[in-house]
Amino acid sequence: MKTYLVTGGAGFIGSNYIHHMFASYGDAIRIINVDALTYAGNPENLTAIADNQGYTFVHADICDKEKMTAIFAEHDIDIVVHFAAESHVDRSIIDPEVFVRTNVLGTLVLLNAARQAWEMTDGTYPPGKRFVHVSTDEVYGSLTEEGTYFYETTPYDPRSPYSASKAGADMLVRSYMETYQFPANITNCSNNYGPYQFPEKLIPLMINNALQGKKLPIYGDGLNVRDWLYVEDHVQAIDLVCEKGKLFETYNIGGHNEKKNIEIVKIILDTLGEMLPDDDERKNGINESLIEYVTDRKGHDRRYAIAPDKIKIELGWEPQTYFAEGIRRTIAWYFANADWMERVTSGEYQNYYQQVYGK
Ligand code: NAD
Ligand code: DAU
Repeated sequence: MKTYLVTGGAGFIGSNYIHHMFASYGDAIRIINVDALTYAGNPENLTAIADNQGYTFVHADICDKEKMTAIFAEHDIDIVVHFAAESHVDRSIIDPEVFVRTNVLGTLVLLNAARQAWEMTDGTYPPGKRFVHVSTDEVYGSLTEEGTYFYETTPYDPRSPYSASKAGADMLVRSYMETYQFPANITNCSNNYGPYQFPEKLIPLMINNALQGKKLPIYGDGLNVRDWLYVEDHVQAIDLVCEKGKLFETYNIGGHNEKKNIEIVKIILDTLGEMLPDDDERKNGINESLIEYVTDRKGHDRRYAIAPDKIKIELGWEPQTYFAEGIRRTIAWYFANADWMERVTSGEYQNYYQQVYGK
């Protein structure tokens, strides 16, 4: 039976990953989820699997050396899937320090705990041990020319405190692979969307605001491009890397789905209009008059676009979910989980919103 240590499993992608893993492997796996439950971590995301026999939750900070060492001493971990991070660019612009702490130092602490537990006296590692570091395409910087893409060989050029801290973490993982032959992979993925995403990110923020008849704040000219991937496709790719990825390799994961931000917002408006029943009183107010162009994000990267050729050729992975379908599923999830949205947007979120959007 394989034992996984998942970090940040109470967040957006981590919780989707844990659901995917139990749905795919049932009682044949064990998952230990270590999460500090920051504003982005929500145990509610895991209610459906919380009582699974193979599931253990550890409430801890990945920067806590003793606790991370103790987890490896207590459990015979086969695979680490490292999601835990501060993940939002706008927050990194306001307060970079916590990003360096969690994303860089936290990754180092985990690397050391895993190496200490796994490395044998001859400097090799038992077969089956693997550390999958989940990273982002933002480490590659910003593309300007159409038709250019990020490859695994693209030089790093991070431009926000968030992407700089993720790049730092990636470099540490690379250095452990080179120096200690530490069995790892790095995955660099494009923008995810889907269930359980915190409404500081573009898509859930726009869905939530539109449903409340609030303005839809678009940074700058709205022409920045992101490559959107449905989260279920991302977690399938990570599972495949854990199962079949060649150790020490980096895999880019992306949706082949580049869209300008303004296009995304218009698709959300149209899809909400189609999906809301005619007698829903919110329906009439949901239209393009809600769109409001606001001051641009500082250092706003213009375009991201992943070339996921390597993972397709080597592991046979391709995105399965067309955006039109993924956005409907996402909106359906937010309709069905209005109370979840209500809870995560009360309290601290209101201060955050005021700080970033001034209202
Ligand atoms: P998220 O912000 O939704 O979740 C992060 C989780 O990490 C939360 O549960 C939080 O409580 C936990 N966490 C934060 N600091 C911690 C600490 N010090 N110790 C333990 N737990 C801590 O993030 P997400 O969007 O699910 O992203 C997960 C990972 O995927 C991140 O590493 C991110 O860089 C990467 N990524 C995200 C995207 C995206 O579009 N969201 C795309 C590519 C890569
Ligand atoms: O590319 C992968 C990255 O995608 C991940 O590593 C990050 O964790 C994740 O947050 C995401 O980063 P972005 O900055 O691209 O995502 P965000 O949803 O914050 O913004 C998407 C685009 O929408 C970006 O061009 C900024 C714009 N935007 C965002 C918000 C929140 C707006 O125009 N208005 C907004 O209110």
